[in-house]
Amino acid sequence: MVILVTGSTGQLGQSLQYIAHQYPEIDFLFCPSSELDITNLEQCRAAFSKYKPQYCINTAAYTAVDKAEIEPQKAHLINAIGAKNLAEVCKEFNTVLLHISTDFVFDGNKKSPYTEEDLANSTGVYGQTKMEGEIAIQQTWEKHFIIRTSWVYSQFGNNFMKTMLRLASERDSLSVVNDQIGTPTNAVDLATVLIKIILTDNQQPTADNFGIYNYSNEGQCSWYEFAQKIFEINNIRINLQPIPTSGFPTPAKRPKFSVLDKRKIKEVFGINIQDWITSLKEHQG
Ligand SMILES: NC(=O)c1ccc[n+]([C@@H]2O[C@H](COP(=O)([O-])OP(=O)(O)OC[C@H]3O[C@@H](n4cnc5c(N)ncnc54)[C@H](OP(=O)(O)O)[C@@H]3O)[C@@H](O)[C@H]2O)c1
Repeated sequence: MVILVTGSTGQLGQSLQYIAHQYPEIDFLFCPSSELDITNLEQCRAAFSKYKPQYCINTAAYTAVDKAEIEPQKAHLINAIGAKNLAEVCKEFNTVLLHISTDFVFDGNKKSPYTEEDLANSTGVYGQTKMEGEIAIQQTWEKHFIIRTSWVYSQFGNNFMKTMLRLASERDSLSVVNDQIGTPTNAVDLATVLIKIILTDNQQPTADNFGIYNYSNEGQCSWYEFAQKIFEINNIRINLQPIPTSGFPTPAKRPKFSVLDKRKIKEVFGINIQDWITSLKEHQG
């Protein structure tokens, strides 16, 4: 089986590379943006024509949430047009598309976990363009899995965990927002789930489980509580202060609450999801 992975230098792309050796039966084609620019339809077509993948995992995205507010065209080009291009070539080559989306498609006004049926209503450009990407895929090619995830961290690339660890090495005290609630997601756990979806789909080609799925680790916390655990697990002593969102203004408005309901992915794919703290500890170990 051939799986083509876009955006292979990003944190999810690298996490997939990290677990790839566990699946000797799969030929992974890891494509960095320098080789496969998803905004270039002809380049996508050429790659698919050459490798004829059965599955494509699109981890490529414009992920700079705040910068997107001043670069909306670029965010739209990558997150919406890029996703549409991949859906088009997937349709041409009968390739199943796994696309990653985000909790930031929601406005955060709900008080209970978001299900796949809840109305998306993003508060910022990044979430808006990711929503456009989802819609473009849904309108173009039915053989898709759109996985919405949240607060992704890993040893690779840029993420909140690495930022906290860096800041702790530079400062004695730190203030972190404690009124935005979500769930951290270990990128290696997410990568493993993506492969599980592919293997299940490949074994049951007539099952037709296509559609949107939520996935994060279990549980919920604020960014402050996430930072607290990162420091506790790494035995870092720092004066950590909780602050409200108003004390840390950012160009993009973020959802106050974006916990994802994961019943659907657990039921359909029989996935056991680890608690975020256990997963964070294992990641550190
Ligand atoms: N990080 C999070 O907290 C989070 C939360 C929810 C959802 N997600 C979603 O999860 C997915 C993976 O995120 P991530 O954290 O792994 O992102 P990331 O670390 O920012 O990586 C994004 C990758 O996309 C590539 N890319 C950008 N423009 C491209 C283009 N035109 N063509 C091909 N590749 C391109 C980048 O390559 P270059 O560096 O070479 O440009 C990079 O390798 C994304 O869909 C993201 O929206 C992430």
